[in-house]
Amino acid sequence: MDGVRVAAIRALTAAEALARRDDIAEIWPEASRDRLDEILPRHAARAGFRFFAAEEHDLMVGFSYGYLGAPGQWWHDLVSAAMTDEQRRHWLAPGHFEFVELHVRPEFRRRGIGGTLHDALLDGLESRTAVLSTQVDNDAALALYRGRGWQIVVPELRFAAGGTSYSILGLELAGEDEE
Ligand SMILES: CC(C)(COP(=O)(O)OP(=O)(O)OC[C@H]1O[C@@H](n2cnc3c(N)ncnc32)[C@H](O)[C@@H]1OP(=O)(O)O)[C@@H](O)C(=O)NCCC(=O)NCCS
Repeated sequence: MDGVRVAAIRALTAAEALARRDDIAEIWPEASRDRLDEILPRHAARAGFRFFAAEEHDLMVGFSYGYLGAPGQWWHDLVSAAMTDEQRRHWLAPGHFEFVELHVRPEFRRRGIGGTLHDALLDGLESRTAVLSTQVDNDAALALYRGRGWQIVVPELRFAAGGTSYSILGLELAGEDEE
C-alpha cells in the first residue's frame, strides 16, 4: 500500500489503557514493567485521567496521558516545593492539568505524531494551566513543547538526589475564565 500513512489518534478509557500495558511498555522502555504495573493503575484512577493512543494498522505507535494534579501526589508536592509562592498559586491552582507522559516509537518519530498526541491531550480541557517535567537535555521534547507555547517555570529540578535533572514547564490554557 503506497501513499502517506497517517496514525489515527484515539482516546482510550482508563480500562482500555490498562489493558494495553504491553504496548505501552514497549513504547516507553525507560519504565520497567514492574514500575508500569505500579504507576499506571494509580494514575488511571486519578481525577481527569485522559489517555490518547496513536495507532497505525492496529499497532500502537505512540501515546500521551495526564490527569488533574493535586496536593498529596508525589510529583505535585516535589514540584510545588521547588516553586515560589507566586508560581505555585498560578501554575498549581486547583484544577491544573498534569501532562504526564508523551512517547512515540523511535521509528515513527518526526512525522507529526508526537505533536498530534500533545494537542489531543490538551484539547477541550477546562484547566487554566498545564504543567510537565522533561529532562533538561531532552532536545526533541523541549523543541516540541516550546513550539507549542510552553514556558520554563523551574529550570532545574532533581526528583532524586544525584538523579536526572528535569525542567518544569507550564502552559497557559484557555480553560474556564470567569473574569
Ligand atoms: C518527544 C517525542 C514525543 C516527539 O515525537 P515526534 O512524533 O517525533 O514529534 P513530532 O514529529 O510531532 O514533532 C513535534 C515538534 O517537535 C520537533 N522535534 C521532534 N523531534 C525533534 C528533534 N529530535 N530535534 C528537534 N526538534 C524535534 C519537531 O520539529 C516538531 O516541531 P514542529 O511542530 O514545529 O514541526 C519523541 O521524540 C519521543 O517519544 N521521545 C522519547 C520520549 C520523550 O522524551 N518524551 C517526552 C518526555 S516529557
